[in-house]
Amino acid sequence: MDHRILIIGVGSIGKRHTRCFLETGRARVAICEMNSPLRDAVGGEYDIDERFGDLDAALSAAPFDGAVICTPAHLHIAMARRLVDSGAHVLIEKPLSTSPDGIDALRSAAAAASRTVSVAYVSRLHPSLNAMKAAIDSGRFGAPVQVVYHGGQHFPTYRPAYREIYYTKHETGGGAIQDAITHVMNTSEWLVGPIDRLVADADHKVLEGVDVEDTVHILTRHRNGVMGSFTLNQHQSPNEGTLTVVCERGVARFEAHRARWRWHTEPESPWRDEPAGDTPRDALFVSQAHAFLDAIEGKGEPSCSLDDGEQTLRVNLAALASWRSRAWEEV
Ligand SMILES: NC(=O)c1ccc[n+]([C@@H]2O[C@H](COP(=O)([O-])OP(=O)(O)OC[C@H]3O[C@@H](n4cnc5c(N)ncnc54)[C@H](O)[C@@H]3O)[C@@H](O)[C@H]2O)c1
Repeated sequence: MDHRILIIGVGSIGKRHTRCFLETGRARVAICEMNSPLRDAVGGEYDIDERFGDLDAALSAAPFDGAVICTPAHLHIAMARRLVDSGAHVLIEKPLSTSPDGIDALRSAAAAASRTVSVAYVSRLHPSLNAMKAAIDSGRFGAPVQVVYHGGQHFPTYRPAYREIYYTKHETGGGAIQDAITHVMNTSEWLVGPIDRLVADADHKVLEGVDVEDTVHILTRHRNGVMGSFTLNQHQSPNEGTLTVVCERGVARFEAHRARWRWHTEPESPWRDEPAGDTPRDALFVSQAHAFLDAIEGKGEPSCSLDDGEQTLRVNLAALASWRSRAWEEV
């Protein structure tokens, strides 16, 4: 069945969603983008006839079955509410927002209208992470007790426009806490449970042309007692991320840069590598699009619910607050 899907904002990630929803073969895609040269460029590249300059114009056309919100984070909740009220299911890019305002009302409106609202934390679609989660959940390593992440990438290489986009200000979802480490915090909550409290330190160290933090350290306590430690920067040359879950009787480790997971249970023995598939970035977004379309059809749950996205938003806000207060913060 073909679903009518509206992509709002076709900048960096909206263009990818446009391509990946088309790739599913299950969607007729329309785009909404206020920058007209960009709208025409993306519309032309993907042969999209339905192009709108703003949400009013899009919502006055025929209704949409689903919408993907790919604008800066401070705009997400108000747009999601309008889309739900118009009858659309909604997938919202990360982070869910820059404040909790409007989320309860959005949740109630979505429940009343039986619409799905989910958040696009795309790591949850990674096959190796899913395999690692299944192994942890099976209990074969015992209960998780500790989660450790270290990673980083050279943002100017992967996002050359970082000085001209939402990234430059906290108010629009910028800085390493809301933009980058939020992916890892969401993944770790999915793997070992939600974070109850945290202490964070951060700073601007290297990135030219911005003054938001590009380097972050966070210590966490999760609801079931798991202790966490996370460090990330956006300026190192290796593009690497390693997420380790230490359990009572074994250790599971996801290596993002190798798209694989491995495990270890006996001292003095080698790591055991699970086979890594070829996982191009688009493949994760195509899987995420399928999951959203399945949810629209009532055939499954979206990969990251509104509740889970809100929990990670509260982690982002607690990390910013802790950095300012230099103290532990409750989430
Ligand atoms: N999942 C991921 O891996 C990932 C990667 C990058 C960005 N993101 C998230 O996606 C969102 C967008 O990021 P981006 O990098 O694509 O930013 P971007 O600046 O490249 O694109 C945003 C687009 O939204 C358009 N826009 C803004 N307000 C609009 C409005 N009212 N109506 C129509 N169009 C509007 C802008 O013109 C721009 O083209 C952010 O929340 C960001 O955190 C997620």
